[in-house]
Amino acid sequence: MSIVNRKIVLVSRPTGRPDDSNFRYVEEEVAPLDDGQVLVEVDLLGIDAFIRTTLDEGSFHRGAQIGGVIPALGVGEVLDSRDAGFAKGDKVFGPLSSQTHAVMPAFTLRKLDTNVAPANAWLGALGLTTGLTAYFGIVDVGRVKKGDTVVVSGAAGAVGSMAGQIARLSGADKVIGIAGGSHKTKFLVDELRFDAAIDYRNENVGARLDELAPNGIDVFFDNVGGEILDDVLMRIVEGSRIVICGAISQYEKMDDVRGPRNYLKLAERHATMEGFAVFHFAQHYARGEGQLAEWYRNGDIIMREQIEHGVENFPAVMNMLMTGGHHGKLLLKV
Ligand SMILES: NC(=O)c1ccc[n+]([C@@H]2O[C@H](COP(=O)([O-])OP(=O)(O)OC[C@H]3O[C@@H](n4cnc5c(N)ncnc54)[C@H](OP(=O)(O)O)[C@@H]3O)[C@@H](O)[C@H]2O)c1
Repeated sequence: MSIVNRKIVLVSRPTGRPDDSNFRYVEEEVAPLDDGQVLVEVDLLGIDAFIRTTLDEGSFHRGAQIGGVIPALGVGEVLDSRDAGFAKGDKVFGPLSSQTHAVMPAFTLRKLDTNVAPANAWLGALGLTTGLTAYFGIVDVGRVKKGDTVVVSGAAGAVGSMAGQIARLSGADKVIGIAGGSHKTKFLVDELRFDAAIDYRNENVGARLDELAPNGIDVFFDNVGGEILDDVLMRIVEGSRIVICGAISQYEKMDDVRGPRNYLKLAERHATMEGFAVFHFAQHYARGEGQLAEWYRNGDIIMREQIEHGVENFPAVMNMLMTGGHHGKLLLKV
C-alpha cells in the first residue's frame, strides 16, 4: 500500500520574519525502507524557538536545506521498521521535521516508555528543548538555592514556564516572570504560582523590578536578551548568576545581534554570565529526566500545552511562536 508524505519544505531563506514565499507544501510517496531505517507516522511536532534559526544560512543548529523539510522534534508511531530495535506500533521521539511521515535512520530515534508519561510529555515537561533545558539552566548553570530571588524572561513560553517552576522547587524564595500581555502575567501567577509577573509590553520593566525585587536579583534565566537583559543587569547583586538560555528578541536579525549595554555590572557585582546549550549536559540527561519525571508524576510541575493543527500550517505556527501567540508549549498535530 502506498503512503503519501505531506510536508513543508524551505524554498528560500527569509530575511527577518518568514512569509509564505519561503515555504512550499509538497505531497510525495514514501520510498521503500533501506536496512537500518524506520518509517514513523508523525503525531505531534514541538514548535521550538530554535527552528527559526535553522532557516538561516550557516545556523548554529543544523540548518534546513533549500528544498528540504524544516528541522523539528516530534513524537509519533512506527509504521514499518528495518531495524531490530524498533517494531510497528512503538511510540518514538526524534528529529521528525515538518512532515506527516518520516523515514529515519534508527539511531536518531528513541523508543518511549509511555508508562512513565504520555508521548507528548517528551516534547514538553520532560522534553530535551523544554524541561531538560530549563532544568540544567536553573540547577546546573544558575545554581539556584534556598532564598534566591529568581527572574525568568520569556516566562510564559515553554522553557520559561518550566524554569520558573524548577526555580521554586530548587528553593527560590521569590520567582518573578516577565512576559508579554496581562493574560500571560495572570497565567504565570494564577496557574504556575509565580510570585509575581511583569508585562513587558505594557509596564516599565526596570521600575517593576525595583518594586518586586527591592534587594536585587540573584539569578536571571534569560530567554529573550535585548533591553530586558539590560534592565536586569542594572539590578543584580553580589555573586548573581545570569543564565543565557536564549535571546529570542534577536533571532530574526542574527547578523546584527545587540549585546548587553550594562555588562560592566558583572564586574561591579562579581557576577557571572554563563551561556549553555542543553546538549552540553548530555552526560547528565538521566539525572535531569529522572527528577523531571518525579516532579511530573507528583503534579509539582504544570506544562500547559497549546495544540495547533495541520502540517500545512507549520510556517504560520512557527511565526506564532516568535510573536508570542501561545501559552506554555506550542505543539503542532500534523
Ligand atoms: N540553550 C538551549 O539549549 C535552549 C534549548 C531550547 C530553547 N532555548 C531558548 O529558550 C527560549 C524559549 O524557547 P521556547 O522554544 O521555549 O519558546 P517559547 O518561550 O515557548 O516562545 C517564545 C516566546 O518568546 C517571547 N518573545 C518573542 N519575541 C520576544 C521579544 N522581542 N521580547 C521578549 N519576548 C519575546 C514570546 O512571548 P511573549 O508573548 O512573552 O513575548 C514567545 O512566546 C529561546 O530563546 C530559545 O532559543 C535554549
